[in-house]
Amino acid sequence: MSEPFIPISRPFIGARERELVLDALDSGWVSSIGRYIDEFEDRFARYCGTEYALAVSNGTTGLHLALAALGLRPGDEVIVPDLTFVATANAVAYTGATPVLADVEPDTLCLDVASVRSLITPRTRAIMPVHLYGHPADMDALAAVAEAHGLAIIEDAAEAHGAEYKGRRVGGLGKCAVFSFYGNKVITTGEGGMLTTDDRAFYQRARRLRDHAMSPEKRYFHDERGFNYRITNLQAALGVAQLERIDEFLGRRAEIMDWYRAEIAAGESVRLNRVKNWARSAFWMVCLEVDWFDEARRAAFMQALKARGIDTRPYFCTMSSMPMYRQKPLPVAARKAQIGLNLPSYFELTRDDVRRIGASVNRLLRELSPA
Ligand SMILES: Cc1ncc(COP(=O)(O)O)c(C=O)c1O
Repeated sequence: MSEPFIPISRPFIGARERELVLDALDSGWVSSIGRYIDEFEDRFARYCGTEYALAVSNGTTGLHLALAALGLRPGDEVIVPDLTFVATANAVAYTGATPVLADVEPDTLCLDVASVRSLITPRTRAIMPVHLYGHPADMDALAAVAEAHGLAIIEDAAEAHGAEYKGRRVGGLGKCAVFSFYGNKVITTGEGGMLTTDDRAFYQRARRLRDHAMSPEKRYFHDERGFNYRITNLQAALGVAQLERIDEFLGRRAEIMDWYRAEIAAGESVRLNRVKNWARSAFWMVCLEVDWFDEARRAAFMQALKARGIDTRPYFCTMSSMPMYRQKPLPVAARKAQIGLNLPSYFELTRDDVRRIGASVNRLLRELSPA
């Protein structure tokens, strides 16, 4: 009999989630007004240690809202990593500004500060570090560059709930941060996102733009173009229940990472997530890099794992390889995009599952190795 299929990711929805979502449903407050939205925002701000949190419809709209609130316009430039999910660069482009692609560091996979520095021009307005796969970017180094040039830092924390940089939680390390609550994230609301900030004026501006930029003095009067980027009370109820368990979820992710380290024969040319001594990773994704992979070898490896009932996903493609942002490849990002992949990690993954995955990974790496 074949063994059960192990997906790359799966949300954990328990009795508490059901209870709060049903309570929201029964209350009749099913749209974007309701007590769970206020509660979710308050609790999330407290969790991140920020003054304000603003719930939004998803991480992508959250990023767009943050950049719109910053007042970006055509001709402005925002530095983003070449290796990220496409929403980071797209959010910049939605404002009419230009995403400028920087290379990433080989170990953290986050913005390379030297690359960022080399790309600053008089048009640069902001830097958008992405805490990729849950590992925080080197924020002090980026803050020094931002300060020297008068730039805003917008953290793309879509994948990094609970991650820490030098003991401080991500979310409060720049002008603002944006999180995603998509179904595969550390906590989920189905679709959803959150903007966090300590800046009162920025928060108020983002809040107004989230809600069609309606005039507070005159209903249905709008003196500029806003958006509907609100979350629903039903989603927020799910978020409140998930947030109650975030420490447990993060603890399990770290434990799963330890299990992988015990099972997979890593070494010089086969590597799992590397974590800087100043970082606490959220381990949103388990990362495996193999130096002798190219796209074809990686595809063969992933296919063979799939045949054994184990799901994987490749690292993100670089922005510079896509038609909208095509340019000369950046060396580290381009290489990582070819040799990296993600292995399953989710709350209900068991020690035995990881044993099974590890055994298959080790066997296939031996079989497929060109050496
Ligand atoms: C780095 C990054 N930025 C932005 C997003 C966009 O979030 P969402 O899917 O909630 O729109 C995602 C996630 O999916 C992401 O991984």
